[in-house]
Amino acid sequence: MSTVAKLVLGAMGRLRPEPATGSGPDLLALPPPQTSGGLGLMQALAARRSAREFASRPLPLPLLSDLLWAACGVNRADGGRTAPSALNAQEVEVYVALPAGAYRYEPAAHALRLVAGADVRRVTGYQDFVDEAPLDLVYVAHHARLSAVPVAQREAYAHVAAGAIAQNVYLFAAGNGLATVIRAWIDRDAIGAALGLAHDQQVLLSQTVGYPAA
Ligand SMILES: Cc1cc2nc3c(=O)[nH]c(=O)nc-3n(C[C@H](O)[C@H](O)[C@H](O)COP(=O)(O)O)c2cc1C
Repeated sequence: MSTVAKLVLGAMGRLRPEPATGSGPDLLALPPPQTSGGLGLMQALAARRSAREFASRPLPLPLLSDLLWAACGVNRADGGRTAPSALNAQEVEVYVALPAGAYRYEPAAHALRLVAGADVRRVTGYQDFVDEAPLDLVYVAHHARLSAVPVAQREAYAHVAAGAIAQNVYLFAAGNGLATVIRAWIDRDAIGAALGLAHDQQVLLSQTVGYPAA
């Protein structure tokens, strides 16, 4: 769908998901992540960039598993994550829009929980490439988890935490031949409705990931 069509539908409150391609399970266990090897950090930093042209080829499940672990997976026995959060509140959740459905990443179980049996990708941003790229991530703040932080600071803290997750995804992408771009130009109300979010959950940012266009 074109950006103009999305802007018009968004203004009318009618930017909606498409039917899912196939049907995903309610709980999708991810294969264990491969947490060693890969491109060196300095090389990944040298290759990091935003890209906006994607092939529609799906990401293999092991690659998706590694990507989500890199984003904000559990990397310590005490439940710590690959990305920091204020007071270790871990208030930013990663939603995963795939053709077969929209999921919430559950780091402790390293699994995907189905939240919408629809293809939510086109709702995740005004730019047209989000519809066809195989994966759109949505970063959502669960503000109730920041109850120890003054209300006026919660949103800023959550954006910082989402930025750290996004950079993890950028570096993973750079190290694995993937293209990605973080996006703030999104219809937060449409995304919230499509994902069935509660009133205290705030859509922060979205990020598209896929193989680069040929
Ligand atoms: C907070 C934030 C919001 C952004 N929003 C968008 C967006 O909505 N759409 C987009 O195509 N790029 C977006 N970008 C990507 C920037 O345009 C990109 O990072 C910048 O042009 C620098 O390019 P580089 O990432 O390749 O270094 C955003 C970046 C940040 C940090």
